[in-house]
Amino acid sequence: MSTFWSVYVTVLTLGTIFAMAWLLFATRKGQRVDTTDETVGHAFDGIEEYDNPLPRWWFLLFVGTLIFALGYLALYPGLGNWAGLLPGYDYADKDKKIRFSDGATGWTGVHEWEKEMAQSEARFGPIFAKFAAMPIEEVAKDPQALKMGGRLFASNCSVCHGSDARGAYGFPNLTDADWRWGGDPQSIKTSIMAGRHAVMPAWGAVIGEQGVRDVSAYVLAQLAGRALPAGAQADPAAGQKIYATTCSACHGPQGKGVAALGAPDLTHPAGFIYGASFAQLQQTIQFGRQGQMPAQAVLQGNDRVHLLAAYVYSLSHEGKPADTPPDSPQ
Ligand code: HEC
Ligand code: HEC
Repeated sequence: MSTFWSVYVTVLTLGTIFAMAWLLFATRKGQRVDTTDETVGHAFDGIEEYDNPLPRWWFLLFVGTLIFALGYLALYPGLGNWAGLLPGYDYADKDKKIRFSDGATGWTGVHEWEKEMAQSEARFGPIFAKFAAMPIEEVAKDPQALKMGGRLFASNCSVCHGSDARGAYGFPNLTDADWRWGGDPQSIKTSIMAGRHAVMPAWGAVIGEQGVRDVSAYVLAQLAGRALPAGAQADPAAGQKIYATTCSACHGPQGKGVAALGAPDLTHPAGFIYGASFAQLQQTIQFGRQGQMPAQAVLQGNDRVHLLAAYVYSLSHEGKPADTPPDSPQ
């Protein structure tokens, strides 16, 4: 803020407070102290007003708010460029003499956040670093690491993958054996660190509506091994030809998927994130899909992502049956 505006705001704010103090005391002067039956003389809709003074407790409450306001403005920023006197806001990290990122001092919401971050870094940084130096499979067996990873997951990942990590429509289940980009520790870490951008092209314009129906029927009935709905006007045999020329490059000749491309295994409908009904398959194939996993490298940094990867890895490697029940076709 320029000096002019700083002075302007300061004068206006303090001026208002002093004007209110003056008003409060000036109107009190000369007032009676006892209560009376006299009215001030005006009436609105038959309602009249006694000529009584402001109750004392009320008056003191007013004085209290004025004193509070002055105290608040002394401690916190509010008067132009005045940074406030609240102690403890000289440094983000006092021990390491790290200043706040904007170079200023005094309380602000951002400074408070930076202080908290510095505190948690000082407290947890060494623990994160210890786990980051261990292989992910080992970290995944450490109860403390899993607890920390679980918390990170709850605050950063559960919005999309669900608090139980079982996914939702459009978001993969991370607790099963179906992996779009690979389920080994390093692939999981790369998925989280760098993010993933899946590109399933739209085929409607290329193979036509009948082609979409046929190849959907082939995926459903042959690859996924599910029954074709009665009356589906589609020819899986024709679909198979389309599959061989159009789809196998990404999903593999047997439909087992290609992790390098994020192309899912089409023989395992339990892992489909866009649904495995005949209608949903046609939708996917006709219009394409573009699943995006946001990169966490900048937001979380390597050490936290390492913990997250271990947590995610642990979810499908607890010795429980790797498969989840197939999702219900609708
Ligand atoms: C904005 C929503 C969103 C958030 C937040 C998100 N993800 Fe994802 N994630 C996705 C989507 C969508 C995919 C699937 C991408 C695709 O279609 O291939 C995905 C894929 C993944 C995969 C790869 C799964 C596979 O089958 O290969 C992993 C691992 C993963 N996410 C972990 C995480 C973790 C850990 C976090 C928290 C740091 C996280 N995700 C936060 C949306 C999200
Ligand atoms: C360029 C590579 C590529 C080609 C070619 C391709 N796909 Fe895909 N397909 C993908 C990717 C990547 C995904 C994952 C999309 C996502 O996660 O958002 C996908 C997803 C799908 C899904 C959705 C699975 C789910 O999780 O719900 C189906 C079904 C599918 N493809 C069928 C086909 C068929 C049929 C063809 C041929 C007509 C085809 N794909 C051609 C890359 C491809």
